[in-house]
Amino acid sequence: MIVCHCQNITNHDIDAAINWMRAADTTALITPGKVYRALGKAADCGGCMPLFLEAMRKNDNLEVPMQLRNMKRGTTQETKHDRRQESS
Ligand code: FES
Repeated sequence: MIVCHCQNITNHDIDAAINWMRAADTTALITPGKVYRALGKAADCGGCMPLFLEAMRKNDNLEVPMQLRNMKRGTTQETKHDRRQESS
């Protein structure tokens, strides 16, 4: 099924790109932009993005690697008060 009509990308192309990236790097965060680049293309109108993301989510290799989960909580110690001081 064609997912992106501007670039003629199918759900099979998306699966192949995700599987290739995961095989090359087990810790890679796979984004739609990386899928486009892996296919040698770039998004045009962006109208396909909901369907594109849905196709990506169907691939089991898309999961965030276990060692990268919960990193946001562990790396930021910032509070709301810190943000207020920076903006003033
Ligand atoms: S349909 Fe995918 S970028 Fe336009």
